[in-house]
Amino acid sequence: MIDWKSLPRPIIALAPMADMTDLPFCLVCKSRGAPLVFREMVSSEAVVRMNPKTLEMAKFDERERPLVQQIFGADPSVMAEAARIIEETFNPDGIDINMGCPVYNIVSNFNGASLMREPERATAIVNAVKDAVTVPVSVKTRLGWSKDTDVLEFVKVLEAAGADLISIHGRTKEQGYSGTSNWDRVGEARRNTSLPVLVNGDITSVETAKDALSRSGADGVLIGRGALGNPWVFRDLVAGLRDNVPAQPPTLDERIAVVREHARLHVLRYGERGLVKLRKHLPWYFKKELRKQYPWIDFNALRGKLVRVTTLEELDDILEGQHERNFSRL
Ligand SMILES: Cc1cc2nc3c(=O)[nH]c(=O)nc-3n(C[C@H](O)[C@H](O)[C@H](O)COP(=O)(O)O)c2cc1C
Repeated sequence: MIDWKSLPRPIIALAPMADMTDLPFCLVCKSRGAPLVFREMVSSEAVVRMNPKTLEMAKFDERERPLVQQIFGADPSVMAEAARIIEETFNPDGIDINMGCPVYNIVSNFNGASLMREPERATAIVNAVKDAVTVPVSVKTRLGWSKDTDVLEFVKVLEAAGADLISIHGRTKEQGYSGTSNWDRVGEARRNTSLPVLVNGDITSVETAKDALSRSGADGVLIGRGALGNPWVFRDLVAGLRDNVPAQPPTLDERIAVVREHARLHVLRYGERGLVKLRKHLPWYFKKELRKQYPWIDFNALRGKLVRVTTLEELDDILEGQHERNFSRL
């Protein structure tokens, strides 16, 4: 079980990302230094209905610990029952409640970010989930619905309701992913609560993490997109933030080894469809910003091949073909 108050500072964690932070990707991040992972959200309604696909999503490997399972929903009793089922069945180290998702079919059902507009319902959900489980209960939220100051009161509501930690993405629901994450505003919210706070949004490196931490005064960082195709960010963050050691970009060999490892974990987890499910991750490993590091690679052509890959052999061939030695022979 996590004790948010005594975890080493700064806390460094992988953010929950639907369809992304599943068992294989969390394991890849752990193996590259992630101290803590948040699993993708699961629907409380589906858990309570014992939907096999949803329950399967909450299964994890012991090597992923410490791990927090996120749930979403609008009905306090259903949220509590889902949290209880998850704790009893899988025993994660913490439960997180989604109060920040801006996606239409989530907010239109009064959950995700819409809970920021309903403090009574948010309170009832935190109360009910706290009563239902023994592990800590955290909440992930945004700055507000349309006003980026809603969070200043909302953190007080969450603290009074009994939450153990709050993660704040420094954007409003209306902003979606546009603009930039306002780490200063997260800092104002941080000063309104005695709970530990994780700052989130646009943190992709040791430099941005240092900036976010100093501007927010948060207890730690939550890394989402910055970890996609880049699990090494955790090794760099642990070394840079805790030990002041400079970041070490991975070599091409390391990059290829991780993609192969990720692919094998997908096949173990999802069987034959594993490679098709991996396709969404693959372009992140070969972003065009890497052009300077590997000038011989045709990134457009490579990404085009990766998103059509169907077998491990095919993937290995494509990756093997990217080594510089294959190009210098031409
Ligand atoms: C593909 C994707 C899926 C996401 N799914 C979730 C989710 O399941 N639960 C949640 O609280 N936030 C989710 N988020 C939001 C992220 O956790 C994070 O708050 C946001 O991406 C900002 O952080 P970043 O700039 O580090 O990516 C998702 C984001 C992305 C890009």
